[in-house]
Amino acid sequence: MCGIIGYVGKRKALPILLQGLKRLEYRGYDSAGVALLERGGICVVRRAGKIALLEEELSGKTFEAFCGIGHTRWATHGIPADHNAHPHTDCRKTLALVHNGIIENYRALREKLLSEGHRFFSETDSEVIAHLLEGSGPPLKRILHVLPLLEGSYALCILFADEPGVLYGVRRFSPLILGVGEGEHFLASDVPAFLEHTRHAVFLEDGEIVRVSHDGWEVFSEEGERQEKTVTVVPWDPVSAERGGFKHFMLKEIHEEPRVFEDTIAGRVNLARGEVTFEELEDFSGEYNRVVVVACGTACHAGMLGKMYLEDFVRIPVDVEYASEFRYRDPLVGEKTLVVAISQSGETADTLRAVELARKKGAQVLAVCNVLGSSLTRLAHWTVYTRAGLEIGVASTKAFLAQMTVLLLFALFWGRKRGTVSPETLASVLFEIPTIPRKLHALLAKENDVHALAKEFYLFKDFLYLGRGLYYPLALEGALKLKEISYIHAEGLAAGEMKHGPIALIEPDVASFVLVGQGERRLKVLGNIEEIKARRGKVIALCDEGDVEVLEKADYTLEIPKTLEPCSPLLAIVPLQLFAYYVALEKGCDVDQPRNLAKSVTVE
Ligand code: F6R
Repeated sequence: MCGIIGYVGKRKALPILLQGLKRLEYRGYDSAGVALLERGGICVVRRAGKIALLEEELSGKTFEAFCGIGHTRWATHGIPADHNAHPHTDCRKTLALVHNGIIENYRALREKLLSEGHRFFSETDSEVIAHLLEGSGPPLKRILHVLPLLEGSYALCILFADEPGVLYGVRRFSPLILGVGEGEHFLASDVPAFLEHTRHAVFLEDGEIVRVSHDGWEVFSEEGERQEKTVTVVPWDPVSAERGGFKHFMLKEIHEEPRVFEDTIAGRVNLARGEVTFEELEDFSGEYNRVVVVACGTACHAGMLGKMYLEDFVRIPVDVEYASEFRYRDPLVGEKTLVVAISQSGETADTLRAVELARKKGAQVLAVCNVLGSSLTRLAHWTVYTRAGLEIGVASTKAFLAQMTVLLLFALFWGRKRGTVSPETLASVLFEIPTIPRKLHALLAKENDVHALAKEFYLFKDFLYLGRGLYYPLALEGALKLKEISYIHAEGLAAGEMKHGPIALIEPDVASFVLVGQGERRLKVLGNIEEIKARRGKVIALCDEGDVEVLEKADYTLEIPKTLEPCSPLLAIVPLQLFAYYVALEKGCDVDQPRNLAKSVTVE
């Protein structure tokens, strides 16, 4: 994880670096630091804690530099402390660097450097790179010499005292993007860091090195050969990186869901012709005998729902695996397997490695991804973008809605192609789809009810989230949202599994959030509510509007507008996300930057 930034141009570097770091803070916020090339040499300021503390440290000091680097950290090697904060320098402070990633062989390298007389100032893996780069000769040559010594993942931003006005960036298995401005350039882990200054970006590939000055940039391979690169215009609007009147990004992003849904379906759903189309999938034959979904966290929950959609509509067997498990097995995938990799960021290390393994075994890969040009999209054979826009809140919300939407549409698209979905079935779903934004708005309008409920429950220590069928992955997601931002223990369960063990947990101070759902499962879930009530457990039930039986049985209810069953998760997710948000708010938690987390998990 960690966020890195570099600036070289004609403006003072420090404010630009600090502003960029704030945009990257979602990637980690244990400590932060900057290095600036001042007249007297390299000046490093770093501080444990969030960027606000670094700003405090810097206040009152004047810096003239037009070139600098910055870092916001998510600790892997070495506790969050001033001395472990980046940037790191060599012994003689001839260079400074910031690193995102993990150097796996750093112990051996450190031992060797110590035996050669180097002194270390931190416990980090990153510092070895600074010492390895120490020396004389052209910086590019030194970088080319050091890279083969490093095992692991890295995005680096380096400034050398003897080459003022120049920055180097290096990328291997961690994201690094060049922002191309007028008379200025940026290097960053993610586009929002420089979006206010330029929308022109160059996405670096693994193994590439970039040399930037205020008036130019060049990209080299690890062998030192010049590479041709194209400049992409990023469609995001800088305003989306602001909270826009909302207290937190998470709340803003939940409120964006009706628009996200509309963007995600735009051009893909044609009511008049009764069709679902994906222009990205023109050459998708669909000739597979199996699907494997790989993803992590929230994206994996979307994948579990995707399994149900695909098995129902395409009648194809689907397995869903955590990417972190898949990649360390010898999974049975081959040419007849379609691997669907789901990721908001497109930079999650486990998902990327799982995709690489699947490709090695001959599988074809379809990415469902939110970030344009991200590593995943470059590894996949096809990418369907989720179009959720920039997601900044560490807890994923609108991206999950967009992932579910894409997976539903994809299953219908493939099912029509394969003949497993009739025109009538497709038409029934397509006619429901335009009603969803209105229903999402209606749910958001009842936000205060959810807030009131959160006030009743925020002191509870344990929650069970129960659901069946399409609501089972939602139960997992509801529990994940609650635990990650409010630090309350919450477990998502297939409601039918309750009686096989978890029911032992039920007592008056355990809350159960029961997702009732439709069809034949509804009655079974009502049975689960009875079982919990009989053991004096507290029940919050989420059900369809006007379900009187649920209103009578549960202690509290949240209703969702009536919809077709396949669309119901698209609505049910809103109260779950709002509930987690308001519980965290009542508890006084840092909603957008929950402890120990980072948004993009680019380490394994
Ligand atoms: C939870 C959350 C994480 C991510 C997971 C995968 O709110 O955000 O569980 O879903 O780290 O991230 P992506 O989708 O970027 O691959």
